[in-house]
Amino acid sequence: MNANDAKARIEQLTKELNKHNHLYYVESNPEISDYDFDMLLKELQELEEKFPDLASPVSPTKRVGGDITKKFETVVHRYPMLSLSNTYSQEEIQDWVTRISKVAEGDLEFVCELKYDGVAIGIQYLNGVLHQAVTRGDGSQGENVTTNVKTIRTIPLNLQGDFPEDFEIRGEIFFPLDNFNKLNEARRADGEPEFANPRNTASGTLKMQDSQVVASRGLDCFLYGIYGTSLENGHFETVQRAADWGFKVPKTQARYIEKTNTLEGVMDFINHWDQERSNLPFEIDGVVIKVNDYAQQEELGFTAKSPRWAIAYKFKAERVQTTLETVSYQVGRTGAITPVANLKPVQLGGTTVKRASLHNADQIEKLDLHLLDQVYVEKGGEIIPKIVGVNVDEREPQAERVVFIERCPECATELVRTEGEAQHYCPNDIGCPPQIKGKIEHFIGRKALNIDGLGAETVDALVDVNLIENYADLYDLTFDQVVELERMADKSANNLIAGIEASKQIPFEKVLFGLGIRFVGETVAKKLAKHFKNIDALIAADFDTLLTVDEIGEKIANSIVAFFLEEENKTLIGRLKSAGLQFEIEEKEGGSNKLEGKSFVVSGVFNAFSRPELKEAIEMNGGKNVGSISKKTDFLVAGDKMGPAKLQKATDLGVTIISEDEFIAMLNGD
Ligand code: IVH
Repeated sequence: MNANDAKARIEQLTKELNKHNHLYYVESNPEISDYDFDMLLKELQELEEKFPDLASPVSPTKRVGGDITKKFETVVHRYPMLSLSNTYSQEEIQDWVTRISKVAEGDLEFVCELKYDGVAIGIQYLNGVLHQAVTRGDGSQGENVTTNVKTIRTIPLNLQGDFPEDFEIRGEIFFPLDNFNKLNEARRADGEPEFANPRNTASGTLKMQDSQVVASRGLDCFLYGIYGTSLENGHFETVQRAADWGFKVPKTQARYIEKTNTLEGVMDFINHWDQERSNLPFEIDGVVIKVNDYAQQEELGFTAKSPRWAIAYKFKAERVQTTLETVSYQVGRTGAITPVANLKPVQLGGTTVKRASLHNADQIEKLDLHLLDQVYVEKGGEIIPKIVGVNVDEREPQAERVVFIERCPECATELVRTEGEAQHYCPNDIGCPPQIKGKIEHFIGRKALNIDGLGAETVDALVDVNLIENYADLYDLTFDQVVELERMADKSANNLIAGIEASKQIPFEKVLFGLGIRFVGETVAKKLAKHFKNIDALIAADFDTLLTVDEIGEKIANSIVAFFLEEENKTLIGRLKSAGLQFEIEEKEGGSNKLEGKSFVVSGVFNAFSRPELKEAIEMNGGKNVGSISKKTDFLVAGDKMGPAKLQKATDLGVTIISEDEFIAMLNGD
């Protein structure tokens, strides 16, 4: 392909990808499958690699990230980023309305909006192209986080329709609760401490150096103000108009935004969201009331810090007082110690609360906790409620201070705390029962060795009867030993042994993840496997060599070096190797990652492939074979003589059914 053809194709792909991105993320109304979208994106990526001069800084390929920002430059805001004055009662809102009614001429019309709990962002567009995105900072200057903002799918890179030439749009970047919870689940699985709340995590994410990580986290954005243009007379109309240019703006149908000309209308909006906010898929901390008419806004003007034409109403956080009965300490798979407050049960936000996370020793110190304290408990977006303060007036004079434990509650080993880290750890990783069990559970997990027929309960039982004390011991287990366990039938014992046997075929990267090296999650394990190709090369790598690997920083490198310095770990690996596990990458010819992330069910008889060959082709190209059809299956490859029941099930569940020819076309990238 010559440069001219490439240019035309890049333009066409860009247009299509932008359109489908908008349909999917902003309109929630996709027209093409994820697979087809990925294929278009891949084509664009390849063309941009071949013709780098033709790659636009606002190409849809920027959505997946990859660019690194070493230092975020400071940018002065064209229009200062002010804050809102806060109110906490409906009387204060009423006073505000009375006050401004005296100043502004004519009847007032109000726009009621949600107060999104995230990070403010100002995004400048020049001639319909995203130019730069800047954080609030101190209000007069912020940080240029454009590269990271480009990965947020609901923020358009190119505008459509009749947009102003040069304007700034402001909004709030936030972490949707679903994505936040998923991130914490993954961190739990990787043995990393969980993030405390969505807002701080959104803020931290936005300032990460690696935009690929930002892209993977799934931030979102709502827009609430436009500066530098006055196409319409009012705020509400301007915001709605921004939807025509491709922005995600709050919807009136969902009552995310509302226009009213009465105080009752404003109060109704406040009351509605005070009740309903816990059902939103993101966090809000109040509502914002704004005067709609721009001329009236101008009349009202600003104080030094905030506009007089707008006011925030902050919800009272749901807070209750209860007694702190005891503090207990949990030991995680990596030995991390988490203090937990055991509370006198109390009702909060519709559930009974008995426990609250205390995170770490600093938190206990900050709260200056004493046993039997009356503590205030609040529920934010977190899964577990938190203690936000102590009612010191009700503290007994002889109350005993909570002092962080010095020894592991499970194995009595002295705890350690590395400088600069918030968490205490139990260093006895090979002798501490929850660490032993946790490590084995991690090893057998779905994303690691995926051992069918073995669950957490069985691991507990096997450890308790001293049949295993590490993951290498699994490979010495016999049917006769296992069948002796309580409630273990012949069939289950057989399945367990067969599952262990099958795990010997699991690829190196998953085995590496399964070893449970601190900070080596799924993605890092993949990167390491790809780079070093086998375990011996990885063991031989020193700190500096590790740092040369993409995305490996000092923290991970240190952890890897420390892991392999322990003789015990090397012995375990030696035993796993002898058992026949995969410790090197299998370089297969004809492999690709074209089917990465897709799951397939193969059924029937085929012409070009035998069934096992077809399954192998799926694996070799990064796809996954699954046994039976479910909602999560991406494709059913249907051959001849396939049973009608399977076909029906796939149709009912909306699974895409493809023929052998279509599958081959997929592999060929058509
Ligand atoms: S309007 C002049 N509308 O709240 C200030 N702000 O304390 C104009 N926020 O920094 C801001 N939702 O980050 C506005 N619907 C909304 C908002 C909102 C959240 C945040 C924003 C701002 C802070 C003000």
